[in-house]
Amino acid sequence: HDLLATTLPDAEIIIVSNREPYIHNRRNGAIELQTPASGLVSALEPVMRACGGTWIAHGSGSADRDMVDAQDRLAVPPSDPAYRLRRVWVSEEEQNGYYYGLANEGLWPLCHIAFVRPAFREEDWRFYRTINQRFADAVAAEATTPDPIVLVQDYHFALAPRMIRKLLPEATIITFWHIPWPNAETFGICPWKEEILDGLLGSSIIGFHTQFHCNNFFDTVDRFIESRIDRETAAVTLAGHETLIRPYPISIEWPPAALKGQLPVEACRRAVRERFGLAPSACIAVGIERFDYTKGILDRMHSIDVLLTLHPEWRGRFTFIQVAAPTRSKLASYSRLQDEALALADEINARHGQDGHQPIRLVVRHHEPPEVFELFRAADLCIVSSLHDGMNLVAKEFVAARDDEQGVLILSTFAGASRELTEALIVNPYDARSMAEALNAALLMPADEQQERMHLMRQQVREQNVYRWAGRMLLDAARIRQRRRVLALAG
Ligand code: F6P
Repeated sequence: HDLLATTLPDAEIIIVSNREPYIHNRRNGAIELQTPASGLVSALEPVMRACGGTWIAHGSGSADRDMVDAQDRLAVPPSDPAYRLRRVWVSEEEQNGYYYGLANEGLWPLCHIAFVRPAFREEDWRFYRTINQRFADAVAAEATTPDPIVLVQDYHFALAPRMIRKLLPEATIITFWHIPWPNAETFGICPWKEEILDGLLGSSIIGFHTQFHCNNFFDTVDRFIESRIDRETAAVTLAGHETLIRPYPISIEWPPAALKGQLPVEACRRAVRERFGLAPSACIAVGIERFDYTKGILDRMHSIDVLLTLHPEWRGRFTFIQVAAPTRSKLASYSRLQDEALALADEINARHGQDGHQPIRLVVRHHEPPEVFELFRAADLCIVSSLHDGMNLVAKEFVAARDDEQGVLILSTFAGASRELTEALIVNPYDARSMAEALNAALLMPADEQQERMHLMRQQVREQNVYRWAGRMLLDAARIRQRRRVLALAG
């Protein structure tokens, strides 16, 4: 937080993302405020609270229009305003093409390589372009200076950086890609690869979570675009414009706001066990995320099946609670996953359940952060088994929730977080047997070993928190701006 305060360049900050930080929904005649389940939002919201500025996002709630002024703006957080939210409206047809279609049926599976075939349709691409232009126009309309710092978020807006550059040539545009960047061969499937690369290269800086994704990006540019690549200075120059390509591992705020007001760990343990009708001594593992096929939810259930087969001594004593927030349910790949997960949970419960005890409890609904943190604090283990993930902030939130320095994190080697949280039990989610052995080892891990591992992971997340993530990007932006000023002075 201090780093952010000292490095914050004297400039206007504008964020562009699809997902908004606050959603207003109408339910039973009343207006309800919802915090979306989104890594992007958990990371950026505290940064905006610290920096102030404008956040431009898609107004997606059923009561969103009722809350804004005539310019579609709203001061947020509603309880203690610190920055401005500007909502952009997208029709259902546009949403089907831009968000469900190109972004989530095309780019999402393309970048995650989770063996779901990407779909690329001409009409989705048309909507994607239209909505990117709409957001770029909103940036130009909201900017009160000719050279704001614009933070463009994620794969929904690959074309926006170039469009913003045309409207505001002096802007410092930092684009952060929250999901993995695949190798050049995989990216080559995309029919609009050149346009997407050209759009992104309108940025001043493009950030990824890991060096590995930066390298994949360089290889992709090298293969498909005529430009100058300098891997030593980590820059791509296209038509005289330089873009820096940098790794910035994203993180969470420290201490997390959701920890405030939490009961002591013992009380959380009791409350959650009572709520699920479990004995006070029951061992609990939790998995908490959006119901997404990249998260490896089925794979972790398979590993629990193997655990209870190889180690029947855990039957009746071990319960896995999977909290899954419905997401993108309009898409067949997502609704199919929900059906498969429900069927698999039933099958495993029938095989290993005894005396009314069910080893898998699947709770399909959105949970607000305080509920999520209570579960983290009540659990003996947390399972993050993504098949591929840019970073995965659930892993970091679990660590942040455990101020008692107990609990074991089981973490996929294919999540960016595994590069930082090396004291987790690192697993290959495709290998059910070794994941089952990791579960068994976690359940048997002595308290002092848990404490040492958790202590180191907490130190890492505390030091490398989201303010440092934003601070590093803004520091790089400040350097670019200084250099430009010096060049201008030199004539
Ligand atoms: O980080 C990846 C991401 O797609 C974010 O862009 C997004 O906010 C989050 O996951 C949740 O997805 P969605 O916004 O589609 O619900």
